[in-house]
Parts: sequence; C-alpha cells; structure tokens
Amino acid sequence: MKIKGIGAIVTGAGSGMGMATARMLAQAGARVAFLDINEVGIRAAAAEAGGIALPCNVADPKSLENAIANAISAVGPARILVTCAGVGRMEPLIGRDNAEAYSQMVDTVMVNLIGTLNAVRLVANDLARRPPLEDGSRGAMIMVASGAAFDGVPQSVPYTASKGAVVSMTLALAREFGDLGIRVNTISPGAFDTPMIKAAPKEAWDAIRSTTPYPKRPGVPEEFAALALHICENEFMNGSVLRLDGAHRTGYFSNG
Ligand SMILES: NC(=O)c1ccc[n+]([C@@H]2O[C@H](COP(=O)([O-])OP(=O)(O)OC[C@H]3O[C@@H](n4cnc5c(N)ncnc54)[C@H](O)[C@@H]3O)[C@@H](O)[C@H]2O)c1
Repeated sequence: MKIKGIGAIVTGAGSGMGMATARMLAQAGARVAFLDINEVGIRAAAAEAGGIALPCNVADPKSLENAIANAISAVGPARILVTCAGVGRMEPLIGRDNAEAYSQMVDTVMVNLIGTLNAVRLVANDLARRPPLEDGSRGAMIMVASGAAFDGVPQSVPYTASKGAVVSMTLALAREFGDLGIRVNTISPGAFDTPMIKAAPKEAWDAIRSTTPYPKRPGVPEEFAALALHICENEFMNGSVLRLDGAHRTGYFSNG
C-alpha cells in the first residue's frame, strides 16, 4: 500500500510510540488523525505534523465512535489504523484495596483490549463500504501488544491479559477481514523509552539494559514507527505478531 495521500488514524498519538508513528506517517504523505485522551499532546503534535487532533477516550464507546467518524470526515477513509492508546501499570492482585484493584483491572482491559477492538471494528465497518485501492487492498491495521503477553510478567496480570488478547485477535481479524483486503498485524514491543515507563526506577532501567542481548538499551519510538510504516507498505505481511525488543525476554523475578 502506498502511504502518500491516504487517510490514517493513530490512537495514542499524544505521546510515545503513537506520536512517533503519526508523525512518520504524516512525513510520508498520509493525512493523519491524531486521537488521544491527552489533548495537549495531540494538539501540539498534530499542529506540527499538519494533521488533525481529535481528543477521545478509546474506552468510551460514544467518544471513540465520534472521534473516528470525525477523523474519517477530515482525512478520508482510514486506510491505515494504528492503535497505540494504552495504559500500563503494576497491578498486584493481592493485598490491595478491593474496589481500587477491581476498577483498575477493568480500566486496563477497557483501554487496552476493548478500546483496540472497538477502533478496529469501527474502522473496518467503514472500510467495508469503500471501494478498494488501486492495488485491490482496502486497508492495513496495526495493533499493539507487549512482551508481557508472552513472558509471564508478574504483578501486571490485567495488562498481560489485555495484551494477550490482542495477540490472539490478530490472526482471527486477518482471516475475518481477508475477503475485504484489510490486513491486520500486531507489533509486540519490548521496553521502549516512552513516558509510559520513564518513571521506572534506575534499577529497572539497568535490568532492561543488562538483559537485552543487543542493542543493550530500550527501544526508541521511531524504531516502532519505522516498523509500522513497513507493515503498511508490505502487502504480504498479514496476520502476524512481530516482536520488536532487541531479543529481550522478561525472566522470573520474585515478588519479595
Ligand atoms: N513503553 C513500553 O515499554 C511498552 C512496552 C510494550 C508495550 N507498550 C504498549 O505500547 C503502546 C504505546 O505506549 P507508549 O509506550 O507509547 O506509552 P505512552 O504512555 O507514551 O502513550 C500511550 C498513549 O495512550 C493514551 N491513552 C491512554 N489511555 C487512553 C484512553 N482511554 N483513550 C485515549 N488515549 C489513551 C495516553 O494518553 C498516551 O498518550 C501501549 O499500548 C503500551 O501498552 C509499551
């Protein structure tokens, strides 16, 4: 798929990997809608990239539906959807206030899983009504998982569950949308230097460096964005979950 001139929606475009992807798509000539709950982040980034900023909460069905409808009115059919909106937090299951633990667990799943699936559903319904592009395809979607989906990371089981579901959905969505010419892939990042994990203690950063075979550092958002653009352009890439993590795997660590 040629990126120049087509419409794209990026959720989570107010920060980190979503912002880098939205910017890179705009640089490649796409008309990009920046969606995020962080209004300040998307307004600044969209203004700089020549895109449109649409504040929304992906976990709120009405808010997301409005934002996607407005995005399509502004940039045209969303031939590219990248769902970077996400929350990641330590959520131990034991020893916490019951009500708080429950509401955080629901929020994590609502944002990371339902927010992703709902964006995919809304965009796919619109694309199904559009004519295919010159090459016969209708669009490319990229969802975002995490190494946590594979590595059994403790103390973040709701996050792990939400990302594991994104991994599981990938092939099913690619098959469901295959006859429409809509491809669906997932990028599964390892540790990336974004605001999501910036606040991690020095020991955690040291551990990331010492347990990443090569390169011995966290990823940078532009590396994620570059892979997202490649997936959009590579028509044979479909139904895949791609780990992007410098061969890093989270090992077992004790709760104590
Ligand atoms: N940074 C990492 O190490 C890492 C590792 C693996 C996976 N991921 C995943 O990558 C994705 C991007 O994360 P990032 O590292 O760029 O983090 P980030 O915090 O920089 O960006 C996430 C963005 O999502 C937005 N967001 C959160 N909840 C939202 C909601 N309800 N509605 C709309 N927008 C919402 C935030 O405002 C933020 O701008 C996330 O899904 C995250 O789980 C990150």
